[in-house]
Amino acid sequence: MSRKRTVILISGRGSNMTALIAAAADPTYPAEIVGVISDRANAAGLGIAQSRGIATKVIQRADHPSKDAYDAAIDAALTGFGAEIVALAGYMRILGRGLVEKWQGRMINIHPALLPAFKGLDTHARAIRAGVRIHGCSVHFVTPEMDDGPIIAQAAVPVMIGDNEDTLAARVLKAEHRLYPLALGLVAEGKASMDKGHTVLAHFADDAENASSVVMAPDPLREETDLEQLARITP
Ligand code: GRF
Repeated sequence: MSRKRTVILISGRGSNMTALIAAAADPTYPAEIVGVISDRANAAGLGIAQSRGIATKVIQRADHPSKDAYDAAIDAALTGFGAEIVALAGYMRILGRGLVEKWQGRMINIHPALLPAFKGLDTHARAIRAGVRIHGCSVHFVTPEMDDGPIIAQAAVPVMIGDNEDTLAARVLKAEHRLYPLALGLVAEGKASMDKGHTVLAHFADDAENASSVVMAPDPLREETDLEQLARITP
């Protein structure tokens, strides 16, 4: 089996990147991480990637005269790494239409909300303000509109009584670290692909049990503290 050469784009701490690197450390995982690109020289994730022996590159917007020149530099770096799949993991820039269209179907992103709800920033605070009881994260193919591409897989988590932005973010992040390796694996194996603006899970068409692997449902029983909270509000 040839493993799909994957490049991860980050801007910060890189915990999702770390989860992907950890998954790819298994030689049977269908993707290998061949490079990490950051738009910030001080991204903590860079050091983590280097410590795992992965090549890194810093490509900063300020070092390029225009957005097009910046996108061209990203594209050249991806090609230089021999990328077959691009995984955005906490990458805080919006890539230009040309670049996104060139990589469409091969570029994926993780978003900390159950899309199409809560696109954009501050998803956890907005989820709490909206009073939703279920929140979560989504992995989707990247299209030119932000957080708008076809969904590949989602994980849901409960919003618990007394949650604040930080406690909710921590619960979602744990789910992200399980979901992203699963979703990248599906894309790398060709089990999830993009066609005419939709995600195709062709492999699962007649296999309902496996199809459920693109959904991770809330499981409050796994979290003791949450269970205690539930007990308090159950009459
Ligand atoms: C994650 O919550 C991800 O969903 C969002 O940005 C955050 C990045 O965190 N796009 P990390 O850098 O992966 O730790």
